[in-house]
Amino acid sequence: MSLVRTRLPYPRKLQLARAGTPLEPMPRTSAVLGVEVLIKRDDLTGAELSGNKVRKLEFLLAEAQDQGADTVITCGGEQSNHCRATALAAARAGLASRVVLRTDDPAAPPPATGNILLDRLAGATVRWISRPDWAKRNAIMEEEAATVRAAGGRPYVIPEGGSNAMGSWGYVACAAELADDLATLPARPTTIVFACGSGGTAAGLALGAKLLGLPERGVRVAAVNVCDDRAYFVRVISRICADMTARWSLPAAIAPEELDVVDGYVGLGYARSQPAELVTLRDVCRRDGVVLDPVYTGKAFHGMVTELARDRGRFGERIVFVHTGGIFGLFPAAAELAPLL
Ligand SMILES: Cc1ncc(COP(=O)(O)O)c(C=O)c1O
Repeated sequence: MSLVRTRLPYPRKLQLARAGTPLEPMPRTSAVLGVEVLIKRDDLTGAELSGNKVRKLEFLLAEAQDQGADTVITCGGEQSNHCRATALAAARAGLASRVVLRTDDPAAPPPATGNILLDRLAGATVRWISRPDWAKRNAIMEEEAATVRAAGGRPYVIPEGGSNAMGSWGYVACAAELADDLATLPARPTTIVFACGSGGTAAGLALGAKLLGLPERGVRVAAVNVCDDRAYFVRVISRICADMTARWSLPAAIAPEELDVVDGYVGLGYARSQPAELVTLRDVCRRDGVVLDPVYTGKAFHGMVTELARDRGRFGERIVFVHTGGIFGLFPAAAELAPLL
């Protein structure tokens, strides 16, 4: 454990993630892309409780317990990894859960497959909402909280993706792991690349990297957005970083112009795939045996590969791609993948 890492004022957390995830080489992908690519296996933070959300939930659920909550409430898309991880983590912590899920037609919700099946298995109460109502998601979660209170319960609301100041500590912790991982390798201009869907992973990695002095060691952070656009995420990530700096009086702050959001790879839209993205996902699996998901990691990896085709030096001499999980989103894409196999 590095000195700086032990001095960071981490809030209390639960032990949910199998952290200390491996940093592995991708030798054949590196050869094809002409740049060293390593992969931080945050898909291995667990089996059912897998991916990046678990690191955030360690801090969020500890805060829920500290506030005396008995029910957690959160929201996401119908196949939300975050909602699934929240429902399972809540069950593990002895808390009830309610998830607000976005779908095309709330009167005819999708079948309980993939993440939805796991939400149900973990006992989450599911409330379906329409795409237009997504804009009112925070008010809808407050309605759920009022229902819990009226029944004598104590709710704790987690925003979309667990992306707030508390949840983002999970990725400060990951930045600390990466700092230690990279200290064992020859110094080389390096970029940490990952998918950005609600901004918490990006906020934690950007602020964590700065707190740990990584930019001085030639290490940068680049988020590939899989929805919305650059301007939106610069706003969201800057706000989360500013909240963290203020709330814990941290000795570092992130200015909007320091954020590298790699825009242009949302493609057909959130959770909608194009054949070229699925070809990248397939090729990564065939070359190095790493399974990406179509919604986040596959799209981000495809964006990274496309940027490299334009500019081989875009991310320096070494890329650390953070695999943020999402495996359960692969199976609902089986029909789209079939013609490529
Ligand atoms: C598998 C996976 N990767 C990446 C992300 C994006 O992370 P964040 O929401 O912190 O931006 C998410 C969730 O949104 C996810 O489920």
